[in-house]
Amino acid sequence: MSLTSKSEERVRSSVLKIKPYVPGKPIEEVRRELGLTDVIKLASNENPLGASPKAIEAVREAASAVHLYPDGSCHELRRALAKKLDVSGESIVFGCGSDESIRLVAETFVGPGDEVLFGEITFSQYEFVTHVAGGTCVTVPMKNMQLDLKAMRERVTPRTKLVYIANPNNPTGLMVPKSELDAFIDSLPDHVTVVLDEAYYEYVTSSEYPDSIPDYVKKGRNVIAMRTFSKIYGLAGLRVGYLVAKPELAQAIERVRPPFNVGSLAQAAAIAALEDTEHVERSRSLNESEKQFLYSRLTALGVDYLESHANFILLDVKRPAKEVFEKLLRRGVVVRSADVFGLDTWLRVTVGTREQNERFLTEFSACIRGD
Ligand SMILES: Cc1ncc(COP(=O)(O)O)c(C=O)c1O
Repeated sequence: MSLTSKSEERVRSSVLKIKPYVPGKPIEEVRRELGLTDVIKLASNENPLGASPKAIEAVREAASAVHLYPDGSCHELRRALAKKLDVSGESIVFGCGSDESIRLVAETFVGPGDEVLFGEITFSQYEFVTHVAGGTCVTVPMKNMQLDLKAMRERVTPRTKLVYIANPNNPTGLMVPKSELDAFIDSLPDHVTVVLDEAYYEYVTSSEYPDSIPDYVKKGRNVIAMRTFSKIYGLAGLRVGYLVAKPELAQAIERVRPPFNVGSLAQAAAIAALEDTEHVERSRSLNESEKQFLYSRLTALGVDYLESHANFILLDVKRPAKEVFEKLLRRGVVVRSADVFGLDTWLRVTVGTREQNERFLTEFSACIRGD
Protein backbone atom coordinates (compact mmCIF):
# COMPACT_ATOMS: atom_id res chain seq x y z
CA MET A 1 0.00 0.00 0.00
CA SER A 2 1.38 3.42 -0.86
CA LEU A 3 1.40 6.20 1.72
CA THR A 4 -1.00 9.14 1.55
CA SER A 5 0.49 12.62 1.29
CA LYS A 6 -0.71 13.26 4.85
CA SER A 7 1.10 10.25 6.27
CA GLU A 8 4.15 11.12 4.17
CA GLU A 9 4.44 14.38 6.07
CA ARG A 10 4.60 12.54 9.37
CA VAL A 11 7.26 9.93 8.67
CA ARG A 12 11.02 10.44 8.49
CA SER A 13 12.24 11.28 4.98
CA SER A 14 14.61 8.29 5.04
CA VAL A 15 11.62 5.96 5.60
CA LEU A 16 10.04 7.25 2.39
CA LYS A 17 13.08 5.91 0.50
CA ILE A 18 12.41 2.32 1.62
CA LYS A 19 11.14 -0.04 -1.08
CA PRO A 20 8.89 -2.71 0.47
CA TYR A 21 10.53 -6.16 0.63
CA VAL A 22 9.06 -8.71 -1.80
CA PRO A 23 9.34 -12.13 -0.16
CA GLY A 24 9.13 -15.50 -1.96
CA LYS A 25 5.48 -16.58 -2.18
CA PRO A 26 4.42 -18.92 0.65
CA ILE A 27 3.11 -22.32 -0.50
CA GLU A 28 -0.27 -21.80 1.20
CA GLU A 29 -0.84 -18.53 -0.65
CA VAL A 30 -0.13 -20.17 -4.02
CA ARG A 31 -2.46 -23.09 -3.19
CA ARG A 32 -5.23 -20.71 -2.15
CA GLU A 33 -4.88 -18.21 -4.98
CA LEU A 34 -4.43 -20.68 -7.83
CA GLY A 35 -6.50 -23.57 -6.46
CA LEU A 36 -3.52 -25.94 -6.71
CA THR A 37 -2.83 -28.86 -4.41
CA ASP A 38 0.66 -29.97 -5.35
CA VAL A 39 2.92 -26.95 -4.91
CA ILE A 40 6.71 -26.92 -4.41
CA LYS A 41 8.66 -23.90 -3.26
CA LEU A 42 12.18 -23.34 -4.52
CA ALA A 43 12.11 -19.62 -3.88
CA SER A 44 13.70 -18.75 -0.54
CA ASN A 45 16.80 -20.95 -0.30
CA GLU A 46 15.45 -23.08 2.51
CA ASN A 47 16.83 -26.56 3.25
CA PRO A 48 14.75 -29.08 1.25
CA LEU A 49 15.52 -31.77 3.86
CA GLY A 50 13.93 -29.63 6.57
CA ALA A 51 15.36 -29.23 10.05
CA SER A 52 17.27 -31.89 11.93
CA PRO A 53 14.80 -34.28 13.65
CA LYS A 54 16.76 -33.53 16.84
CA ALA A 55 15.94 -29.82 16.50
CA ILE A 56 12.26 -30.59 16.00
CA GLU A 57 12.27 -32.78 19.10
CA ALA A 58 13.97 -29.97 21.05
CA VAL A 59 11.18 -27.59 19.98
CA ARG A 60 8.56 -30.07 21.23
CA GLU A 61 10.32 -30.34 24.56
CA ALA A 62 10.71 -26.58 24.92
CA ALA A 63 7.04 -25.95 24.04
CA SER A 64 5.83 -26.57 27.60
CA ALA A 65 7.69 -23.48 28.82
CA VAL A 66 6.52 -20.95 26.23
CA HIS A 67 4.63 -18.94 28.87
CA LEU A 68 8.05 -17.84 30.17
CA TYR A 69 10.23 -15.23 28.51
CA PRO A 70 13.26 -16.69 26.77
CA ASP A 71 16.76 -16.39 28.17
CA GLY A 72 17.62 -12.92 26.85
CA SER A 73 21.33 -13.70 26.84
CA CYS A 74 20.95 -17.04 24.98
CA HIS A 75 23.33 -18.48 27.56
CA GLU A 76 23.31 -22.15 26.49
CA LEU A 77 23.32 -21.40 22.78
CA ARG A 78 26.13 -18.89 23.27
CA ARG A 79 28.17 -21.48 25.15
CA ALA A 80 27.64 -24.12 22.47
CA LEU A 81 28.46 -21.74 19.64
CA ALA A 82 31.50 -20.19 21.35
CA LYS A 83 32.90 -23.68 21.81
CA LYS A 84 32.20 -24.70 18.23
CA LEU A 85 33.70 -21.52 16.76
CA ASP A 86 36.49 -21.28 19.32
CA VAL A 87 35.68 -17.68 20.22
CA SER A 88 34.77 -15.97 23.47
CA GLY A 89 31.07 -15.70 24.30
CA GLU A 90 31.30 -11.92 24.34
CA SER A 91 32.20 -11.85 20.65
CA ILE A 92 28.79 -13.25 19.69
CA VAL A 93 25.55 -11.29 19.23
CA PHE A 94 22.32 -13.17 18.45
CA GLY A 95 19.67 -11.88 16.09
CA CYS A 96 16.13 -12.76 15.10
CA GLY A 97 17.56 -14.13 11.86
CA SER A 98 20.38 -12.48 9.92
CA ASP A 99 17.81 -9.90 8.84
CA GLU A 100 17.89 -8.51 12.35
CA SER A 101 21.68 -8.84 12.66
CA ILE A 102 22.05 -6.77 9.47
CA ARG A 103 19.77 -4.13 10.96
CA LEU A 104 21.44 -4.11 14.40
CA VAL A 105 24.78 -3.39 12.76
CA ALA A 106 23.38 -0.44 10.80
CA GLU A 107 21.64 0.92 13.90
CA THR A 108 24.90 0.69 15.83
CA PHE A 109 27.27 2.29 13.31
CA VAL A 110 25.28 4.42 10.86
CA GLY A 111 23.69 7.83 11.31
CA PRO A 112 22.46 10.58 8.96
CA GLY A 113 25.13 11.49 6.42
CA ASP A 114 27.12 8.29 6.92
CA GLU A 115 27.76 6.17 3.84
CA VAL A 116 27.18 2.45 3.48
CA LEU A 117 28.66 0.50 0.56
CA PHE A 118 27.30 -2.62 -1.09
CA GLY A 119 27.10 -4.21 -4.53
CA GLU A 120 24.49 -3.21 -7.09
CA ILE A 121 23.18 -6.76 -7.32
CA THR A 122 22.88 -8.13 -3.82
CA PHE A 123 20.60 -8.86 -0.88
CA SER A 124 18.06 -6.05 -0.51
CA GLN A 125 18.26 -5.71 3.25
CA TYR A 126 21.48 -3.67 3.14
CA GLU A 127 19.66 -0.87 1.35
CA PHE A 128 16.66 -1.21 3.65
CA VAL A 129 18.61 -0.95 6.92
CA THR A 130 20.72 1.94 5.64
CA HIS A 131 17.53 3.92 5.00
CA VAL A 132 16.13 2.91 8.39
CA ALA A 133 19.30 4.26 10.01
CA GLY A 134 19.11 7.46 7.94
CA GLY A 135 22.40 6.75 6.15
CA THR A 136 23.33 7.13 2.49
CA CYS A 137 23.45 4.07 0.22
CA VAL A 138 26.44 3.83 -2.10
CA THR A 139 25.80 1.03 -4.58
CA VAL A 140 28.83 -0.22 -6.44
CA PRO A 141 28.52 -1.59 -10.02
CA MET A 142 29.27 -5.27 -10.48
CA LYS A 143 31.99 -6.70 -12.74
CA ASN A 144 30.74 -9.69 -14.74
CA MET A 145 28.08 -10.24 -12.08
CA GLN A 146 30.81 -10.36 -9.39
CA LEU A 147 31.15 -7.99 -6.47
CA ASP A 148 33.93 -5.63 -7.55
CA LEU A 149 36.07 -4.99 -4.47
CA LYS A 150 38.46 -2.66 -6.32
CA ALA A 151 35.53 -0.45 -7.34
CA MET A 152 34.26 -0.63 -3.76
CA ARG A 153 37.60 0.49 -2.40
CA GLU A 154 37.56 3.50 -4.74
CA ARG A 155 34.23 4.60 -3.27
CA VAL A 156 35.40 4.58 0.34
CA THR A 157 35.35 8.13 1.78
CA PRO A 158 35.83 9.61 5.25
CA ARG A 159 32.03 9.16 5.67
CA THR A 160 32.03 5.43 4.88
CA LYS A 161 30.97 3.50 7.97
CA LEU A 162 30.03 0.05 6.70
CA VAL A 163 30.61 -2.24 3.75
CA TYR A 164 28.16 -5.13 3.38
CA ILE A 165 29.52 -8.10 1.45
CA ALA A 166 27.31 -11.15 0.98
CA ASN A 167 29.70 -14.06 0.53
CA PRO A 168 28.47 -16.05 -1.32
CA ASN A 169 26.32 -13.36 -2.81
CA ASN A 170 22.55 -13.57 -3.16
CA PRO A 171 21.21 -13.82 -5.93
CA THR A 172 24.33 -14.76 -7.94
CA GLY A 173 25.75 -17.52 -5.72
CA LEU A 174 29.21 -16.19 -6.60
CA MET A 175 31.98 -15.92 -4.03
CA VAL A 176 34.73 -13.46 -3.19
CA PRO A 177 37.93 -15.52 -2.74
CA LYS A 178 40.19 -15.12 0.27
CA SER A 179 43.05 -13.49 -1.67
CA GLU A 180 40.78 -10.67 -2.89
CA LEU A 181 39.08 -10.19 0.44
CA ASP A 182 42.44 -10.13 2.28
CA ALA A 183 43.71 -7.36 0.00
CA PHE A 184 40.48 -5.37 0.33
CA ILE A 185 40.37 -5.57 4.13
CA ASP A 186 44.09 -4.70 4.38
CA SER A 187 43.53 -1.61 2.24
CA LEU A 188 40.72 -0.10 4.31
CA PRO A 189 41.09 2.83 6.68
CA ASP A 190 40.35 2.16 10.35
CA HIS A 191 36.96 3.94 10.39
CA VAL A 192 35.38 1.34 8.05
CA THR A 193 33.74 -1.85 9.34
CA VAL A 194 33.24 -4.76 6.95
CA VAL A 195 30.19 -6.99 7.37
CA LEU A 196 30.59 -10.42 5.81
CA ASP A 197 27.09 -11.81 5.43
CA GLU A 198 27.75 -15.54 5.31
CA ALA A 199 24.19 -16.88 5.29
CA TYR A 200 25.34 -19.73 3.00
CA TYR A 201 28.72 -20.34 4.71
CA GLU A 202 28.05 -23.99 5.51
CA TYR A 203 27.28 -24.81 1.88
CA VAL A 204 30.58 -23.56 0.47
CA THR A 205 33.10 -26.26 -0.45
CA SER A 206 35.71 -24.18 -2.31
CA SER A 207 39.23 -24.08 -0.83
CA GLU A 208 39.43 -20.40 -1.89
CA TYR A 209 36.64 -19.43 0.50
CA PRO A 210 37.87 -17.27 3.39
CA ASP A 211 37.32 -18.62 6.89
CA SER A 212 36.34 -15.24 8.24
CA ILE A 213 36.45 -15.93 11.97
CA PRO A 214 40.09 -17.11 12.20
CA ASP A 215 41.17 -15.08 9.14
CA TYR A 216 39.79 -11.70 10.26
CA VAL A 217 37.70 -11.57 13.43
CA LYS A 218 40.18 -13.32 15.70
CA LYS A 219 43.00 -11.23 14.28
CA GLY A 220 41.27 -8.12 15.59
CA ARG A 221 40.21 -6.73 12.21
CA ASN A 222 37.17 -4.47 11.88
CA VAL A 223 35.18 -7.34 10.42
CA ILE A 224 31.83 -8.78 11.44
CA ALA A 225 31.01 -12.34 10.34
CA MET A 226 27.29 -12.99 10.16
CA ARG A 227 25.64 -16.42 9.93
CA THR A 228 22.20 -17.92 10.28
CA PHE A 229 20.27 -21.01 11.29
CA SER A 230 17.77 -20.37 8.45
CA LYS A 231 19.63 -22.07 5.63
CA ILE A 232 21.58 -25.32 6.08
CA TYR A 233 20.23 -25.79 9.62
CA GLY A 234 16.67 -25.62 8.26
CA LEU A 235 15.26 -23.30 10.93
CA ALA A 236 14.06 -20.36 8.79
CA GLY A 237 10.63 -20.34 10.46
CA LEU A 238 12.12 -19.93 13.94
CA ARG A 239 14.24 -16.86 13.15
CA VAL A 240 17.68 -17.15 14.70
CA GLY A 241 21.07 -16.00 13.50
CA TYR A 242 24.27 -14.58 14.99
CA LEU A 243 27.23 -12.40 14.29
CA VAL A 244 30.80 -12.73 15.51
CA ALA A 245 33.10 -9.74 15.94
CA LYS A 246 35.91 -8.65 18.22
CA PRO A 247 34.39 -7.95 21.68
CA GLU A 248 34.61 -4.14 21.42
CA LEU A 249 32.46 -4.19 18.25
CA ALA A 250 30.15 -6.97 19.46
CA GLN A 251 29.48 -5.20 22.75
CA ALA A 252 28.53 -1.98 20.93
CA ILE A 253 26.03 -3.94 18.80
CA GLU A 254 24.73 -5.70 21.91
CA ARG A 255 23.55 -2.28 23.18
CA VAL A 256 20.95 -1.93 20.43
CA ARG A 257 19.73 -5.54 20.54
CA PRO A 258 16.15 -5.89 21.84
CA PRO A 259 16.23 -7.79 25.15
CA PHE A 260 14.28 -10.93 24.10
CA ASN A 261 14.92 -11.02 20.35
CA VAL A 262 15.46 -14.78 20.08
CA GLY A 263 12.57 -16.94 21.28
CA SER A 264 12.96 -19.97 23.53
CA LEU A 265 11.93 -22.48 20.83
CA ALA A 266 14.47 -20.97 18.46
CA GLN A 267 17.23 -21.22 21.07
CA ALA A 268 16.42 -24.86 21.89
CA ALA A 269 16.27 -25.81 18.21
CA ALA A 270 19.52 -24.02 17.38
CA ILE A 271 21.42 -25.84 20.14
CA ALA A 272 20.17 -29.22 18.89
CA ALA A 273 20.81 -28.29 15.25
CA LEU A 274 24.44 -27.36 16.01
CA GLU A 275 24.98 -30.79 17.54
CA ASP A 276 23.55 -32.65 14.56
CA THR A 277 26.60 -32.44 12.33
CA GLU A 278 25.36 -35.46 10.37
CA HIS A 279 22.28 -33.56 9.21
CA VAL A 280 24.43 -30.63 8.12
CA GLU A 281 26.75 -32.99 6.22
CA ARG A 282 23.83 -34.74 4.53
CA SER A 283 22.34 -31.38 3.53
CA ARG A 284 25.63 -30.09 2.12
CA SER A 285 26.28 -33.26 0.19
CA LEU A 286 22.74 -33.36 -1.27
CA ASN A 287 23.14 -29.74 -2.34
CA GLU A 288 26.45 -30.51 -4.08
CA SER A 289 25.18 -33.51 -6.01
CA GLU A 290 21.86 -31.87 -6.93
CA LYS A 291 23.65 -28.75 -8.19
CA GLN A 292 25.62 -30.99 -10.57
CA PHE A 293 22.41 -32.70 -11.65
CA LEU A 294 20.72 -29.35 -12.35
CA TYR A 295 23.78 -28.01 -14.19
CA SER A 296 23.88 -30.99 -16.52
CA ARG A 297 20.15 -30.82 -17.26
CA LEU A 298 20.22 -27.03 -17.76
CA THR A 299 23.19 -27.39 -20.13
CA ALA A 300 21.25 -29.99 -22.10
CA LEU A 301 18.36 -27.52 -22.34
CA GLY A 302 20.76 -24.83 -23.57
CA VAL A 303 20.09 -22.60 -20.54
CA ASP A 304 22.88 -20.38 -19.22
CA TYR A 305 23.47 -20.33 -15.47
CA LEU A 306 26.06 -19.19 -12.94
CA GLU A 307 27.93 -21.89 -11.02
CA SER A 308 26.87 -21.31 -7.46
CA HIS A 309 28.68 -21.69 -4.14
CA ALA A 310 25.35 -21.64 -2.30
CA ASN A 311 22.08 -23.63 -2.42
CA PHE A 312 20.48 -21.77 -5.30
CA ILE A 313 21.22 -21.22 -8.98
CA LEU A 314 20.72 -18.08 -11.04
CA LEU A 315 19.73 -18.84 -14.61
CA ASP A 316 19.24 -16.69 -17.66
CA VAL A 317 15.95 -17.40 -19.42
CA LYS A 318 16.68 -14.76 -22.09
CA ARG A 319 13.11 -13.43 -21.94
CA PRO A 320 11.21 -11.57 -19.22
CA ALA A 321 11.81 -13.69 -16.13
CA LYS A 322 8.54 -12.53 -14.60
CA GLU A 323 6.62 -14.27 -17.38
CA VAL A 324 8.43 -17.56 -16.81
CA PHE A 325 7.95 -17.11 -13.06
CA GLU A 326 4.17 -16.66 -13.53
CA LYS A 327 3.94 -19.69 -15.82
CA LEU A 328 5.83 -21.85 -13.34
CA LEU A 329 3.61 -20.59 -10.55
CA ARG A 330 0.49 -21.69 -12.39
CA ARG A 331 2.11 -25.13 -12.69
CA GLY A 332 2.71 -25.23 -8.93
CA VAL A 333 6.43 -24.42 -8.89
CA VAL A 334 7.42 -21.31 -6.94
CA VAL A 335 10.82 -19.84 -7.83
CA ARG A 336 12.12 -16.29 -7.67
CA SER A 337 12.17 -13.86 -10.56
CA ALA A 338 15.42 -11.93 -10.24
CA ASP A 339 13.85 -8.78 -11.67
CA VAL A 340 13.58 -7.65 -8.02
CA PHE A 341 17.41 -7.60 -8.08
CA GLY A 342 17.42 -5.66 -11.36
CA LEU A 343 18.04 -8.80 -13.45
CA ASP A 344 15.04 -8.87 -15.77
CA THR A 345 15.78 -12.10 -17.61
CA TRP A 346 17.08 -14.20 -14.72
CA LEU A 347 15.39 -16.66 -12.38
CA ARG A 348 16.79 -17.78 -9.04
CA VAL A 349 15.98 -21.36 -8.18
CA THR A 350 16.71 -23.03 -4.86
CA VAL A 351 18.34 -26.46 -5.13
CA GLY A 352 15.77 -28.99 -3.93
CA THR A 353 15.58 -32.74 -3.48
CA ARG A 354 15.94 -34.88 -6.63
CA GLU A 355 12.15 -35.17 -6.85
CA GLN A 356 11.67 -31.39 -6.57
CA ASN A 357 14.43 -30.69 -9.07
CA GLU A 358 12.94 -33.16 -11.57
CA ARG A 359 9.57 -31.48 -11.16
CA PHE A 360 11.10 -28.03 -11.64
CA LEU A 361 12.94 -29.18 -14.78
CA THR A 362 9.83 -30.77 -16.28
CA GLU A 363 7.69 -27.68 -15.73
CA PHE A 364 10.48 -25.29 -16.66
CA SER A 365 11.19 -27.06 -19.98
CA ALA A 366 7.48 -26.89 -20.79
CA CYS A 367 7.42 -23.16 -19.99
CA ILE A 368 10.40 -22.26 -22.13
CA ARG A 369 9.12 -24.46 -25.00
CA GLY A 370 5.85 -22.53 -24.70
CA ASP A 371 3.56 -25.56 -24.02
C1 LIG B 1 22.59 -13.08 1.88
C2 LIG B 1 21.49 -13.27 2.88
N1 LIG B 1 21.60 -12.71 4.08
C3 LIG B 1 20.65 -12.83 5.01
C4 LIG B 1 19.49 -13.53 4.75
C5 LIG B 1 18.43 -13.56 5.80
O1 LIG B 1 18.47 -14.72 6.52
P1 LIG B 1 17.67 -14.89 7.87
O2 LIG B 1 16.58 -15.87 7.58
O3 LIG B 1 18.67 -15.42 8.83
O4 LIG B 1 17.12 -13.57 8.30
C6 LIG B 1 19.31 -14.13 3.51
C7 LIG B 1 18.08 -14.86 3.23
O5 LIG B 1 17.72 -15.19 2.13
C8 LIG B 1 20.34 -13.99 2.55
O6 LIG B 1 20.22 -14.52 1.33
